[in-house]
Amino acid sequence: MHLARPAAPFTPEFFQDPYPTYAWLRDNDPVCAVRLPDSGIRVWLISRYEDVRQALADSRYSANLRSADASYTGFVPPFGNLDPPEHTRVRRFSAGAFTVRRLERYGETVARLTQELLAALPENEQVDLLRSFAYPLSISVIAEFLGAPLSDHDDLRRWAEESVSMEEPIRAAGALALQEYARSLVANVRSTPTNGLVAELIAMSDRDGLLTEQEIVDHVTGLIFAGQHNTSDALGNGLLALLNHPRQWQGVQANPGLVDSAVEEMLRYEGSSWTSLIRIPTQNIELHHTVIPRGDLVFLVFGAANRDPQAFIDPEVFDITRSAANHFGFGRGIHYCVGANLAKLQMRTAIASIISQFPAMRLAVPRDAIRYRPALVNRGLRSLPVHTGHRAAPHTSVPGASLVCPAHSSPVSKG
Ligand code: HEM
Repeated sequence: MHLARPAAPFTPEFFQDPYPTYAWLRDNDPVCAVRLPDSGIRVWLISRYEDVRQALADSRYSANLRSADASYTGFVPPFGNLDPPEHTRVRRFSAGAFTVRRLERYGETVARLTQELLAALPENEQVDLLRSFAYPLSISVIAEFLGAPLSDHDDLRRWAEESVSMEEPIRAAGALALQEYARSLVANVRSTPTNGLVAELIAMSDRDGLLTEQEIVDHVTGLIFAGQHNTSDALGNGLLALLNHPRQWQGVQANPGLVDSAVEEMLRYEGSSWTSLIRIPTQNIELHHTVIPRGDLVFLVFGAANRDPQAFIDPEVFDITRSAANHFGFGRGIHYCVGANLAKLQMRTAIASIISQFPAMRLAVPRDAIRYRPALVNRGLRSLPVHTGHRAAPHTSVPGASLVCPAHSSPVSKG
């Protein structure tokens, strides 16, 4: 039982280390009302694993912000803010592109892009692994996937960060900039067709007329955001966990087959979505003797649920050999992350390649000096300073580029 009251949610101390707060909430206030610092809007935090699991399957929660009483603005991936049957209709358009079978052909592309970035890293020097590796990798991969050049890396990164800012005007401006970028990208692909998801969405929409132009733009906006931002943050957090636990790093080194479970553990221990997107009860919901009023805003705190001792043994321990696949790093249920397979493919390839090519990499600053960005929904580092160490002799293949984690029990599509 945690009795001392730790940092309040949404304070700078909370963003730096939310785990004492999560433990306190789970133990003392599992359905906790707090106010967003910028707007003062009330949001409810649900923090226990079992409560989060049940809420994700509970159709009394809407994901549609139009169901909310308060006017909350926050970035939402395409169809992430829709309810069935609209959600089912729109999700169908891109879900087919993310199946394991469709993604198999991207294994080589991801390995090539990873290899190019690692080849450019200096030996025995200090670099920011986010800027020199994780950001460009995730942007290049999503660009290939969409079939559209995303050349303005720095702008895209900035807009994505702004669109989850804790300050409302910045959030709105970032989301708008991303949307305008996607709008011109869709127009370019329309005039000069390419291979890739954008062209497929346009063709499907022209053929069946089931997706409006605005829905295509929203789709592409969200995929650009989630494809680069969520993935690079998850990669940064995961690499930090590994670098901070040298025995776990050596474990993957000695047994590259552990990379699958290492990625699941990274997503459990510190994934890049600290909460779900907003949920809104469509009727009053009672939980642990507390009534969450209809129309209020709810966050399902994945970061807290993923460290719930009722669900995981020694949850504060980072252990790449545990079976962690039932974490909420990608959510669950009808809004389960559509890009989970693509994200895991990148993470596995990146982690395995870095460890085999820079076996002596280490943090360049003490762990306590690493800073996190305050952000709605996303959890990510400001930078990841590492000392690269020496470069190992080249390998002929990239370990970890396989797609399917044998232990995976999440609802991935195998289509
Ligand atoms: C490691 C990287 C990623 C993480 C941690 C992540 C996390 C999540 C989570 C937790 C959700 C569910 C949110 C909720 O239930 O409220 C979600 C949904 C979603 N993600 Fe991801 N994501 C990642 C990568 C990607 C990628 C690469 C894409 C696409 C290119 C993507 C596209 C989406 C979309 C479209 C949804 C909404 C799904 C729906 O509502 O049906 N994500 N993601």
